[in-house]
Amino acid sequence: MKKTLLELLVCPECYSEFQLGADGLKGEEIRSGILRCGKGHKFTIIDGVPRIVTSLGESEQVKESYSSKWTMFEDVAFSKRDMQFQFNWYISRYGFGDFEGLQKLIKSRSLILDAGCGVGRAVGWFSDFTDAHDILGIDISDAIDIAYRRYGMRPNVHLIQADILRPPFRPEMFDYISCDQVIHHIKNPEEAFNRLVTLLANGGAASCICVQEEGPYT
Ligand SMILES: C[S@@+](CC[C@H](N)C(=O)[O-])C[C@H]1O[C@@H](n2cnc3c(N)ncnc32)[C@H](O)[C@@H]1O
Ligand SMILES: [Zn+2]
Repeated sequence: MKKTLLELLVCPECYSEFQLGADGLKGEEIRSGILRCGKGHKFTIIDGVPRIVTSLGESEQVKESYSSKWTMFEDVAFSKRDMQFQFNWYISRYGFGDFEGLQKLIKSRSLILDAGCGVGRAVGWFSDFTDAHDILGIDISDAIDIAYRRYGMRPNVHLIQADILRPPFRPEMFDYISCDQVIHHIKNPEEAFNRLVTLLANGGAASCICVQEEGPYT
């Protein structure tokens, strides 16, 4: 975790700011420590990743299954073929048209959230397009550790283990939110979607797909 991330986070329980107690530093990177809010809620930073998850309830099972799925299929997920397929799928599904279309949008944004980032492939694409802006990826599963290992050292990338239903952010903070192939895994996709909308700044843009049994809609 980079120190600069601290000012972008709030406690998901009470929305107050965090104080950082860092005990493991590696250069500028905080490898271990504690985030403590004014009301006494505490979250750990382990292996460079802030773990800002509270009780997950029914999402616990999703966390478990994606933690093992991504660990098992990391090589496939980063194979040239799958990366290309996912990228093409993304720009076509959300109407960007081509590489330049997505790049143009990303370059025009200042704070980007990839909600349910998995192993961080989209975080990687977004940060390839610009080194100027902060790009945050959150995921409840241990896939976040893979994302951190692959992209966490990029200066504009921040990775956090967090729940879309209890995001550790202030309202109206992001001017682009990507939530690709995620909310149908959440018991109440509408609640998840509404949560994300509260995080979107006035004039912001979002790309989100929720897959239904009969077919996808955006
Ligand atoms: C199908 S994967 C998509 C990952 C990524 N967006 C991609 O397209 O490669 C769904 C991801 O959503 C994450 N997820 C599910 N429920 C979540 C929640 N409540 N908060 C954050 N992430 C969640 C899972 O852990 C999983 O990594
Ligand atoms: Zn708190």
